[in-house]
Amino acid sequence: MSAPAETVLVERYRSFLPVPNDADIVTLDEGDTPLVRLHTVSDPSRSIEVYAKCEGLNPTGSFKDRGMTVAVTMAASEGSHAIICASTGNTSASAAAYAARGGLSAFVVIPEGKIALGKLAQAMMHGARVIQIEGNFDTGMSIVKDMAETVPVTLVNSVNPYRLHGQKTAAFEIIDALGRAPDYHFLPVGNAGNISAYWMGYTEYRDAGVVSERPVMVGCQASGAAPFLRGHPVDEPETIATAIRIGCPQSWALANQAQEESRGWFRESSDEDILTAQKVLAEREGIFCEPASAVCIAGLIAELECRTIPSGATIVCTLTGHGLKDPDTAIAQSPQPVKVSPDPTAVRGVILEEIN
Ligand code: F0G
Repeated sequence: MSAPAETVLVERYRSFLPVPNDADIVTLDEGDTPLVRLHTVSDPSRSIEVYAKCEGLNPTGSFKDRGMTVAVTMAASEGSHAIICASTGNTSASAAAYAARGGLSAFVVIPEGKIALGKLAQAMMHGARVIQIEGNFDTGMSIVKDMAETVPVTLVNSVNPYRLHGQKTAAFEIIDALGRAPDYHFLPVGNAGNISAYWMGYTEYRDAGVVSERPVMVGCQASGAAPFLRGHPVDEPETIATAIRIGCPQSWALANQAQEESRGWFRESSDEDILTAQKVLAEREGIFCEPASAVCIAGLIAELECRTIPSGATIVCTLTGHGLKDPDTAIAQSPQPVKVSPDPTAVRGVILEEIN
């Protein structure tokens, strides 16, 4: 049985999407993710309201599902039997799941040892052919582009225009929920597809007359993988936030256009600040996102500290992926569990020590 039409992302925003009416939609009921007010990051004294768009609540735990439903629907409807992508993890997990759903095969090219455990488990479990390379995402990207030209596979990285069309729906949902566009939108930037997709979404809603304003876009990068801050591609990108360990973003021009047209900027954060922001969200807001998502909270905290954001601003941050994707990084930075003998006295001792 298929999902009711109003819950299917492609049906809800059909008039904005290039999907033919007779296409069988490959869906896992993606989108419609929570927009949660962050009460410790917001600053009531300056009337600054901060919301998190929790994209980790999508079916495979990241924002990629919005793009993948459209890309795989179109691949299948155009007669393709196989899809391929390079990935730092989340695209491969999403591609594998949607390929399984649509009855296609998936090939995923990943940098060996540099993708988070949960993402690898997903790609393997959904039956994708996982191809590890001794090289980073950027090398993988050039290989899969070659494959898409030389073997019968459809490329589903965000250079596939259908991906951006799907991902732009997050901007629609934010406006639908707030009743207006936010003043600022902070989000992580890796391959730069998502910032381009959001800008497309905000622009299309503005052009359709749904809103009159668009937000200032602030693209957040990890210092070790910050080509937009350096002004050129980075050869050996390195960061704990492996999802955005990318030196040569494919959507460079579109991301620059989003930044320029919105009068926005790019901001970098150290790995240490990224992990601190991830912990702040988890401990004070109850939201567990992956390190790459936390880069936009790290960036926002820094901007709030230097008072670049005016009083009265409404800000949305996209938390792109769920924290469970990367359990190793979470466990390594948290206090380890205490081990006690299995009796009430020992457990009481631990509790009293903590609350006194
Ligand atoms: N956050 C997460 C959790 C991601 O997985 C990615 C990208 C980004 C942010 C950056 O988004 O590339 O559109 O600028 N992950 C891709 C992947 C590259 O292969 O999963 P972007």
